[in-house]
Amino acid sequence: MATIKFEGEEKEIEDGSSILEAAEELGVPFGCQDGVCGTCMATVVEGKDSLEPMNEKEVEMDMAKGQRLVCQCKIVSGTVEFSLD
Ligand code: FES
Repeated sequence: MATIKFEGEEKEIEDGSSILEAAEELGVPFGCQDGVCGTCMATVVEGKDSLEPMNEKEVEMDMAKGQRLVCQCKIVSGTVEFSLD
């Protein structure tokens, strides 16, 4: 199992799965859920190597280093913590 953390709460999810649903339950805001709007852009505070590499939509989005589109992320295993700061 893998763990997603956001604002002091956490959820366990299957290794290799999309983190969208768990992140939504933890309160990460979403818009399009399709890598277009940027609403879900968040900083990875912990565990960036536990995520799969950025997909094409993330690469095309103009993001600061360390940020990811949560709607597009899949976790490999381990723990990942996001922040909207
Ligand atoms: S919700 Fe629109 S880019 Fe993630």
